[in-house]
Amino acid sequence: MSVSRTRILGVGRAVPERVVANDDLAQRMDTSDEWIQQRTGIRQRRHISTSTGATDLGKIAAEEALRSAGVSAQDVDLVIFATLSPDIDWPSCACLLTQKLGTRNIPAFDVKNQCSGFIYGLASADAMIRAGRARRALVVGGEIHSTGLDLTTRGREVGVIFGDGAGAVVLGPTDDPDRGILSTHLHADGNHAEKLWLEAAASRNRPRIKPEDLDGDDPAGFPRMSGKFVFKHAVTRFPEVIKESLDANGLAIADLDLLIPHQANLRINQFVAAGLELDESKVVNNIDRYGNTTAASIPIALHEAIADGRVAADMLVCLAAFGAGFTWAAALMRW
Ligand code: ACO
Repeated sequence: MSVSRTRILGVGRAVPERVVANDDLAQRMDTSDEWIQQRTGIRQRRHISTSTGATDLGKIAAEEALRSAGVSAQDVDLVIFATLSPDIDWPSCACLLTQKLGTRNIPAFDVKNQCSGFIYGLASADAMIRAGRARRALVVGGEIHSTGLDLTTRGREVGVIFGDGAGAVVLGPTDDPDRGILSTHLHADGNHAEKLWLEAAASRNRPRIKPEDLDGDDPAGFPRMSGKFVFKHAVTRFPEVIKESLDANGLAIADLDLLIPHQANLRINQFVAAGLELDESKVVNNIDRYGNTTAASIPIALHEAIADGRVAADMLVCLAAFGAGFTWAAALMRW
């Protein structure tokens, strides 16, 4: 079979059971449900309650994606895991997942590209499938943020935003030239790395982490963010990369049936939709329930959109992301 395109064959997701509402966080820090909802659109997020790694949630999401694709773990010939919060420093989550799923000795690697990680993983799998290097690729986005957040008033700007979760897709080739992933578009600019980053533990430090990294006014051992700066760049880069994906295929915003953006902040997604003159009914938002799950947010939102009947055959769907790095990316597909 000549491989014209790659298609998503199955989707899965997994989130921890424990719901952490804004009012729960207000018990631990100086914040309020009103502040969080107004600035971010988040009402609640999920946090793990027992020792759980990104690959534990990733496994559940992957198994659902495999089931929905009608594919067994033995059929998978490529695993890509996108995460900024791996179970352990190394080896990769992808390797850990192959053990949990019982795959053959196939290629498996991580993508560490934050909020854009899932689309980077998708683009890599798409390229390998079209090159004939894989026929059944599993791409997982999984994050456990809650164990790495400063959930005191000191860390409130970041702490209220992030949640735990995982999403997965199974990809395979199709000879239908009109269906599947039409193109992917990946970008990075390290000039603003320090505007959203986690500096410790770090291999450039000896020792890699010190007690003071978790102490003081602005400790390096917790994620730090220049919120307004990130916001400004997000609302520029999102529309740019969405338009780039449409232009590359001779399409326009009016052709787009559904935008599934990374769930960083509801206000960012509303701003982007308004700027593109895209009706909000065509934008999938679920940050109110999960917060920002970074590499997991797009596959979780895709899973929900399919379950809600918002994705149907022949629809033009755009996945788009912006995040730390900075990195930004889009994938345009005909469903
Ligand atoms: N609760 C109450 N007050 C808070 C909280 C909180 N959780 N966090 C910060 N504040 C306070 C600050 O201390 C500051 O107080 P001050 O004015 O006394 O100094 C004040 O609120 C800041 O308020 P605003 O300027 O109104 O904050 P802003 O509207 O910029 O909202 C926010 C902050 C939500 C972080 C916003 O900048 C933002 O969304 N930026 C984008 C960040 C983002 O989306 N990051 C993730 C994307 S990238 C990725 O996913 C990895």
